[in-house]
Amino acid sequence: MPDGPTHTERAGPVHTGVVTTDPAPAGPVLEGREPSGPVAFVTGAGRGIGAAVARQLAATGWRVAAVDVCRDDPALGYPLASTDELHAVVTACGTDAAGADQALAIEADVRDQAALDAAVARTTSHFGRLDAVVAAAGAVAGGDDSWHTPDGIWQAMLEINLGGVWRTARAAVPALLEQPVPRHGRFVALASAGSTVGLARLAAYSAAKHGVLGLVRSLAGELAGTGVTANAVAPGTTDTAMGRASAAVYGLDPDDLVVHHLDRRLLQPDEVAALVCWVCSPASSGVTGALLPVDAGMTAH
Ligand SMILES: NC(=O)c1ccc[n+]([C@@H]2O[C@H](COP(=O)([O-])OP(=O)(O)OC[C@H]3O[C@@H](n4cnc5c(N)ncnc54)[C@H](O)[C@@H]3O)[C@@H](O)[C@H]2O)c1
Repeated sequence: MPDGPTHTERAGPVHTGVVTTDPAPAGPVLEGREPSGPVAFVTGAGRGIGAAVARQLAATGWRVAAVDVCRDDPALGYPLASTDELHAVVTACGTDAAGADQALAIEADVRDQAALDAAVARTTSHFGRLDAVVAAAGAVAGGDDSWHTPDGIWQAMLEINLGGVWRTARAAVPALLEQPVPRHGRFVALASAGSTVGLARLAAYSAAKHGVLGLVRSLAGELAGTGVTANAVAPGTTDTAMGRASAAVYGLDPDDLVVHHLDRRLLQPDEVAALVCWVCSPASSGVTGALLPVDAGMTAH
């Protein structure tokens, strides 16, 4: 297998001008091994919830394209995942009985359609199929009342959190539909408790996450009868870098936000990932167009 745990593909052109293309070869020859199990494409896999999803899927036999931008964004007040963190996730996903890596690292910005298209092509070239997509890449910024929100924050929140999910679907749904029937295709977007309630001084983030719900419900209708479902998983405050950045908007620690949870504690990424992984499984076949909370009761009152 050509890709060791420290190997990263950068999929297509990216915003910052760093371009390392590695186009997928045409034709049926697989770079990895013969298709032998389900394959997931997980964005935001460099850390946090996306990383937990990648690890849990790999632990149950999935092969995973672990996708992340691995570059900081000047519009955000905190660092994003690094290339080293993405490599560590790939290493944690382990190898199969034949010694082949369970995961493949791909650097791509979810705002960049060409990069996502190339990432999906790389995934199907390497693993031979695509069964599930988990759109977990996301970011938070804000702190001002909505009418004072700067254009740059508004655009970043909409383009990363909503546009990124749409572009991921645009790139990956055709590959899900290439699987022969009967299919168990899955599209899962990370929404938020802020998809159903307003978040003062995080209006752009909340608006984008409300948009994710509309997008996923629409996708579910479009995919009806195909064997591919579309759902959104909505976490409450989770113990990640983004959870800390969300609290910092209010000058708080993440632990201060647990007052919004019936269960007065932060969620752990693995608790969110467990629901995402169930949605990825064939067992969830009766669930589509749903918003599934894993929010410690935050939206129950
Ligand atoms: N942590 C929370 O409290 C919380 C609550 C509700 C919803 N969520 C959602 O869960 C998802 C995962 O968040 P998390 O808490 O794990 O955050 P995180 O910051 O730990 O991880 C997000 C990942 O997305 C990547 N990313 C950011 N922008 C990207 C881009 N443009 N292209 C590709 N990758 C990009 C980052 O590098 C990072 O690895 C997000 O969609 C977030 O909105 C999180």
